[in-house]
Amino acid sequence: RIYTDLFITEGQSEDVDTQHEVKQLERVSKIQNLHDSPIRCHDIFKTFRDQHGVIRVVLTIGIAGVGKTFSVQKFTLDWAEGLENQDVSVVVQLSFRELNLIRGEQHSLLSLLHVFHPTFQKLPAEQLAKCKLLFIFDGLDENRLSLDFNNSQLVSDVTQKSSVNVLLTNLIKGNLLPSALIWITTRPAAANQIPPSCVSRVTEVRGFTDTQKEEYFRKRFSDEELSNRIISHIKKSKSLHIMCGIPVFCWITATVLENMLASEQRGELPKTMTDMYSHFLLVQTKRKKKKYHGGHEISPQKLMKSDREVLLKLGRLAFEHLEKGNIMFYQEDLEQCGLDVTEASVYSGVCTEIFKRESVIFQKSVYCFVHLSIQEFLAAVYMLHCFTSRRSEVIKRFLGQQYGETSLDDFLKKVTKKSLSSKNGHLDLFVRFLHGLTVESNQRLLEDLLGQTENRPEYIQRIITNLKEMNTDRMSPDRNINIFYCLVEMNDVSFYQEIQWLLDSGKELSDSDCSALAFMLQMSEVLDVLDLEKYNTSHKGRRRLVPAVRNCRKARKSPSFCQ
Ligand SMILES: *[C@@H]1O[C@H](CO)[C@@H](O)[C@H](O)[C@H]1NC(C)=O
Ligand SMILES: *[C@@H]1O[C@H](CO)[C@@H](O)[C@H](O)[C@H]1NC(C)=O
Repeated sequence: RIYTDLFITEGQSEDVDTQHEVKQLERVSKIQNLHDSPIRCHDIFKTFRDQHGVIRVVLTIGIAGVGKTFSVQKFTLDWAEGLENQDVSVVVQLSFRELNLIRGEQHSLLSLLHVFHPTFQKLPAEQLAKCKLLFIFDGLDENRLSLDFNNSQLVSDVTQKSSVNVLLTNLIKGNLLPSALIWITTRPAAANQIPPSCVSRVTEVRGFTDTQKEEYFRKRFSDEELSNRIISHIKKSKSLHIMCGIPVFCWITATVLENMLASEQRGELPKTMTDMYSHFLLVQTKRKKKKYHGGHEISPQKLMKSDREVLLKLGRLAFEHLEKGNIMFYQEDLEQCGLDVTEASVYSGVCTEIFKRESVIFQKSVYCFVHLSIQEFLAAVYMLHCFTSRRSEVIKRFLGQQYGETSLDDFLKKVTKKSLSSKNGHLDLFVRFLHGLTVESNQRLLEDLLGQTENRPEYIQRIITNLKEMNTDRMSPDRNINIFYCLVEMNDVSFYQEIQWLLDSGKELSDSDCSALAFMLQMSEVLDVLDLEKYNTSHKGRRRLVPAVRNCRKARKSPSFCQ
């Protein structure tokens, strides 16, 4: 009922697989308006007028939570209901997550189908070859088979047994069932597992455009006044508005704002990302109380002790796996963090919408956070908790250095430094949340989790000053910009006025001013022309402006710029 079309494009944007996904969020809502040709998810196998040849293998790329699996489901539903792609006679969905579980086994393509879709037992092998089949392999990023396309082992018969990985590569190469269509979805970083020569078309799911964001909220709430209030609130906050390009974030926002507006809760609506996620956590635990305690809310803002403990254990799981880049967890991983699997399932009352059991196949469960950003948020909560409760061994391990007792501002400075030195920015959002959690209102919301922090105004001021003075000379321009995202999370946007004043007065911009300017330009409406030469700054400063180029139609630079 509330399905809202996603923006999908043919082709892939430049830096999509080298950048950390969180950084790509900022890009999502912008680039879509600029260069690309959209394609409907139902049309991905269609040949357009100026193209020739058959589209046999389609690779669809997109960051976590952007709607890849949803597109697969929509495609399949509309096919099953007889609305689209009626030339296809059979659609077979196989997720890599499931295929992983039989990776050591020998199968023929036919027996593989029987394992996952027993209905196929009714279909004789000869007939299978006559059907027009579409195989959908969802979630290549979760693949733990080694897909070796150089392996010359040829399999062309659907009854011939081989290892799962050989079957897959033969299917993708077209040796096995050459007339079958193949659709593979993946997060960007794993896309290179499929050689480009095997792929007929690449598409990218970009999430919601600005219009689609509104459409989603209008469909989600039948109450028009409510959806209007929510839409206008989101539009007021640039960072929330940008994040809403990700459907999962729209859903988080809708859950939080609906709850706050409906309960006539007094107080300010969340403005920053950290505000939003803090409220989200509380909304989830409040729901559970209603469910398990007959609707008697104990105290709306207090966590129960058992909730607190489980959330901190989840925080630990989130944190320990963040550095490794793990987003899927198995029972062993949970147990290592002291999470009892039964506890987790009791907890699924609270946590179904934070943490979920993804699937149970062959008696083995796979767990994950509903979105990477939730993992990053809980990891930040856990880190701050460790700081306030003086769990210095955790912090020492993370910072990898001599770590004595230190003040909150010094601690944040060290964590920020560590995050800035990351190439792909895998700690960027974590650090943003960490800063946002020092803000008094969020401390109050989550005090049961965070413990007593030293958040006197002079500490907060020192954190802000440290951010502004951080020596980031050797960091990439993208990492530098994250500092301004941190400031926004701390509700300090004084740099807007400072930069405006510098620009108006024609005074020289320092390197760090240029990063602030790049941030502001990224946050602004799409520019027609960005003239890098018009700013009074050094060569190094000008380089810091480069991230803003993503937000303009045309950029002008001097020939010496590239040297
Ligand atoms: C496969 O072969 C290609 C070209 O011969 C080569 O570039 C590539 O590195 C090989 N890949 C593997 C995984 O061996
Ligand atoms: C650039 O800034 C410096 C220092 O504020 C000033 O002396 C110079 O005139 C400015 N240059 C331009 C072209 O405005």
